Amino acid sequence: MPSSSLIPSDSSVLLTTAGMQQFKPYYTGKADALKDFGSVNVTSAQKCFRTSDIESVGDDTHLTFFEMLGNFSFTVSSEASSEGGAGYFKKEAIKLAYEFVVDILGVSPERIYVTVFGGDHEVPEDKESFNIWHKDMGISAHRIKKCGRGDNFWGPTGAEGPCGPTTEIYVASTAALANDSKGVEIWNIVFNEYYSKIDKTLDKLSQPGVDTGMGLERLATVLQGVPNVFETDLFHPLVSKIREVSDNIDERIVRILADHLRAVIFLVADGLLPSNKEAGYILRRLLRRILVYEIKYDIHADLFPLAIEVVGNNFGGDYPEVNNKKLIAGVLSEEKSKFEKALANGLKEIEKYKEITAKDAFYIYETFGLPFELLGELVPVKVKNLKKEDFEQEFKKHQEISRAGLEKKFGGHGLVMDTGELKVSSEEEMEKVIRLHTATHLLQRALRDALGPSAHQMGSDITAERARFDFSFNRKLTEEEIKKIEDAVNEVIGKDLPVYFKEMPKEEAIMTGALFFFKEKYPDVVKVYFVGPAGGAGGEPYSAEFCGGPHVANTFKIGKIKISKQESVGSGVRRIRISLV
Ligand code: GLY
Repeated sequence: MPSSSLIPSDSSVLLTTAGMQQFKPYYTGKADALKDFGSVNVTSAQKCFRTSDIESVGDDTHLTFFEMLGNFSFTVSSEASSEGGAGYFKKEAIKLAYEFVVDILGVSPERIYVTVFGGDHEVPEDKESFNIWHKDMGISAHRIKKCGRGDNFWGPTGAEGPCGPTTEIYVASTAALANDSKGVEIWNIVFNEYYSKIDKTLDKLSQPGVDTGMGLERLATVLQGVPNVFETDLFHPLVSKIREVSDNIDERIVRILADHLRAVIFLVADGLLPSNKEAGYILRRLLRRILVYEIKYDIHADLFPLAIEVVGNNFGGDYPEVNNKKLIAGVLSEEKSKFEKALANGLKEIEKYKEITAKDAFYIYETFGLPFELLGELVPVKVKNLKKEDFEQEFKKHQEISRAGLEKKFGGHGLVMDTGELKVSSEEEMEKVIRLHTATHLLQRALRDALGPSAHQMGSDITAERARFDFSFNRKLTEEEIKKIEDAVNEVIGKDLPVYFKEMPKEEAIMTGALFFFKEKYPDVVKVYFVGPAGGAGGEPYSAEFCGGPHVANTFKIGKIKISKQESVGSGVRRIRISLV
């Protein structure tokens, strides 16, 4: 299976952190892998991003962005008679993993040791895995370590989902080190036997499955016989470039720059834009850390274009999205100019303080855009008593206030979403509102085609006169873009495509790729409205969105629309008005 985007469809996680994330519904039986993939066993190389390791980046093995190889089995059953229908579990998964590492990749067995789950008050010890390693694979008992929840239990990603005990494979650089359990974890094999619910209690899954994750950079470190991930061929070209343009900077800083540069390029390539919230804020922090280091370590080269070139050449063959060099460069250079302005003003402000409190830090962040983390880099002495939790407390307070404000302003999805309540005074008005409502779905698709997937709906408001559509985007649209979008919508209207809905479980709906509001809480069963497919039956629908309706039955009923106005409504949000002509 191809890697899914770094921007996940599961709204309870900000970024894709594991290979299994795109497969969650297949473990719970909400989706059918045999039907969708022709097999209950799949493999992937997945783009992943983890903030959890950000403080460790710079050591030999930790990264924010990395590639994870995985094999997955969604069921241990048993329709063995049908092709692709037989899954596998502990015995096969361990055997496959060991054979792959030792026989295929040629890692000497002396360098390997493993861990298994040792059991706790809730989940029993995984004796089965211990025995498979010991008896079937011939690993001596002192090379099998038993560990607890913290080390050998994985998942869920996000608020709820499949999870379970793990067994992990470590490789040391020598046999002696392996005896002392001093190696690098390269492969995590998860046995998804449980479902962790929102309240964190565990239910036994009716069908257990296998989910494995093997860090490509660590595996390359082991196989290429180099001391750390940054010396592998995955990183070396970028690291050398950074060294070439910077004078004698600390190795740790080179590594952090290399990690962050590669990460931001992949994030932007997947359509993420820097912003002040959620995933966009993670991106902004990485970008601004790079920019601060450029200043702090007196690097005169602009690292962004250099890195875009190197990363494009190194990874563009496998991940064509990073070949979008112009687009990526545009986003990065815009953030750079924003930061330069913010920094000049912010530094002036900081001069006024002897010591910076959480409130001050939030004020500096909100007014000048200098993230909390950067204060530590810029003025360590002034923030030495400032705790991150206190800053976060301030941040939360602010978020709550601004969310309430937004809801008031945009009124959620507008008038039709959950309630079906249309505030119209006549049937004639009603008809116009419905035509405009369907037109906003077409508009969203056309916007994303023209501007990329970072453009997504933030709110809408529809009256008989016009529809207002708010979406995330960080600049004014050009005349040509407006025209292109308007033409695209009218062209689809002219094709007389059918508009229809299906009701389905939320997770399944997410898997269809239908658009939805990250923020909104949806019921377990949702309606998805489709327009098309454009190429007749069997093709992809032109548009798919979570929506309560109502809509016209076919696009021709909309008539023709025009885009009457565009404006900005706050940072990173634009508003378009359309009307019927
Ligand atoms: N899902 C297994 C891992 O991420 O390690």
